[in-house]
Amino acid sequence: MEKVHFTEEKATMLATLYGRALDSREADPVLGDHAADEAVRQIDYDFAKLGITRDSAVSVVLRAKPIDEWAADYLRQHPDALVLHLGCGMDTRFQRLAPPETVHWYDVDYPEVVELREKLYAPAPNHTNIGTSVTDFGWLDQVPSDRPALIVAEGLTMYLTPEDGTELIRRLVAKFPSGELICDVFSKLGIKAQKLNTPVRRAKATLRWGIDDPHELERYGLDLMSSLDASHWSTPDVMARLRPFTRFQLRMLKYFPALARMANIVRYRF
Ligand SMILES: C[S@@+](CC[C@H](N)C(=O)[O-])C[C@H]1O[C@@H](n2cnc3c(N)ncnc32)[C@H](O)[C@@H]1O
Repeated sequence: MEKVHFTEEKATMLATLYGRALDSREADPVLGDHAADEAVRQIDYDFAKLGITRDSAVSVVLRAKPIDEWAADYLRQHPDALVLHLGCGMDTRFQRLAPPETVHWYDVDYPEVVELREKLYAPAPNHTNIGTSVTDFGWLDQVPSDRPALIVAEGLTMYLTPEDGTELIRRLVAKFPSGELICDVFSKLGIKAQKLNTPVRRAKATLRWGIDDPHELERYGLDLMSSLDASHWSTPDVMARLRPFTRFQLRMLKYFPALARMANIVRYRF
């Protein structure tokens, strides 16, 4: 068992890991991420204290699912791609997508997080972990710049300052010949309402960067391909497994666009 002492934004990745583990224990899981469950069983931590329940785990996996699908789509079209998985936490997206060996995958997060990944996840020839803050931009020099790039950042942008986030995008767009950025963004209301976000509050993390209109990022060299607000994430199968009140809350998103737009999954090309 690995004992861990993560705080603030680093602790939030334990909540999302636990969400995927809970989903994998369902008879009809959304992601079926059994590697997440194995990791949870090897970490000595009171996961329940982060406030993720069977119902709230659903929002974790419903966010991950379209990101997996868009990423798989890019990799089918670009089997020579390089993947930067930023703010990866303990996510096992590399295992879920199982890219061909011609794809090189970089998982990037703070050094303490990467250290835990290295203890729990097996190495692979086409996989590299980089332990750094994504905003200490020197890490980019470790990555070749001559291949199409898929950049995935799930649950990361909202923790960055707008200045750091936009500078990161500028540098990524300038570095590669072409690529896609797939990430999620919170609206300014999502940032204002952060005290209502139980795992964020319990981890004592701070959300900083709100983006109301995904087109805003186009001024940094991106071209928006798709955007899915939270009212589009759930499916009838998933709804059926939820408690009536949670189901009601998710249904309400269709009628209150400002609430649905608090969280958006976005896909850009550059
Ligand atoms: C909500 S968790 C998401 C983790 C993972 N993407 C997932 O979906 O399970 C946020 C992650 O972003 C990482 N993070 C936040 N700010 C970062 C930064 N400046 N540099 C590197 N990682 C960062 C945290 O350490 C944490 O692992």
